[in-house]
Amino acid sequence: MAPIRPTVADIALDHIALNVQAIRGLIPARTELMAVVKADAYGHGATQVAALALSAGAARLGVAVLDEGIELRRAGIAAPIHILGHVGPEDAEQVVKLGLTATVFDRESVLALSGAATRLAKKVKVHVKVDTGMGRLGVRPQDAVGFTELAISLPHLEVEGIFSHLACADAPDITSARGQVAAFHECCLRLEARGHRLTKHIANTAAILALPESHLDIVRLGLGLYGMYPAPHMKSMVKLHPAMSLRSQLSYVKWVEDGTPIGYGWTYRAAGQRQIATVPIGYADGYSRQLSNRGQALLAGQRVPLVGRVCMDQCMFDVTAVAAKPGDEIVLLGRAGQDEISVDEVAAWMGTINYEVTCLISRRVPRVFWRSNAVYGVRTLQGRVR
Ligand SMILES: Cc1ncc(COP(=O)(O)O)c(C=O)c1O
Repeated sequence: MAPIRPTVADIALDHIALNVQAIRGLIPARTELMAVVKADAYGHGATQVAALALSAGAARLGVAVLDEGIELRRAGIAAPIHILGHVGPEDAEQVVKLGLTATVFDRESVLALSGAATRLAKKVKVHVKVDTGMGRLGVRPQDAVGFTELAISLPHLEVEGIFSHLACADAPDITSARGQVAAFHECCLRLEARGHRLTKHIANTAAILALPESHLDIVRLGLGLYGMYPAPHMKSMVKLHPAMSLRSQLSYVKWVEDGTPIGYGWTYRAAGQRQIATVPIGYADGYSRQLSNRGQALLAGQRVPLVGRVCMDQCMFDVTAVAAKPGDEIVLLGRAGQDEISVDEVAAWMGTINYEVTCLISRRVPRVFWRSNAVYGVRTLQGRVR
């Protein structure tokens, strides 16, 4: 293997397979599983995760933007790929050429897709999005029949599905999510009464776990695929396995005197003689500056606190409690020995949600993919090494 920088994100593909299997066990056999691999598979590596999820039982893939669909097709993935975000008229031709499935809810885009498909003498599949309460994208429920029938009337367009997205399925009280599912059913019933039987979907990870009535023709699994839970109260609902961990190596270790300032802004001063280690990871790697004077890591089986501000490429830890030396491995996320720094813990230190923690880990951090305890592939900033 070509040498890579000491800061890496390990991706346990076996855990992703286990998560797919665990979720498949919760949904009816006839319900298809869409693996949501947008945002580079929530930072885990889209092409590798997509291939693995498909081999483990997912039938479809979900992305947010055209470029993500292009990346997957270029990697040779032939499965249905849904662009879940807005597909503008400027995207129409590429969507048709690559056989991607588009989200539609506005006249201009649906006409552009039909036009591009007609010119290219191809069919394009679309799913109508209905806004039942997210307030983000979609036709209003009262406009769903009219818009869907417009789309059905257009040449070279196949209206395959209809879907909606839940705003609060992760809340302990899921009354509003139930209301959204009911509003969605209502739209589908009105369409069915007019002879249109479409593929229906509304469930994200939280709804897969907490709202069985939302398991329709497809469920859209994002967060759970990566072994994370939408909310603490959902941890007892299924056993998931975190797929990403983050490790680095100490680049420098030194003893400093009482009162020595560390890092930009001198926000930390050594209280007594302290041993300080520098680690080559910073906010340009997605290790957030919000972790300044708050984060922790695992070194030789001990928790060590982050001191001073996180810099762009480096940060410092107080490792006084450990006989540390340069080159020692430090775990910033994941398990080491008996202890584990969870994504949820890092999210709490940053004042954000687990989704953001893994999405932020930048392309500069090589991804090392593991399968059956062996390195399965490595992706660096320049592309795949192996
Ligand atoms: C439209 C849509 N469906 C499904 C998902 C997957 O959600 P989750 O990661 O909570 O499973 C997302 C993610 O935000 C989404 O935007």
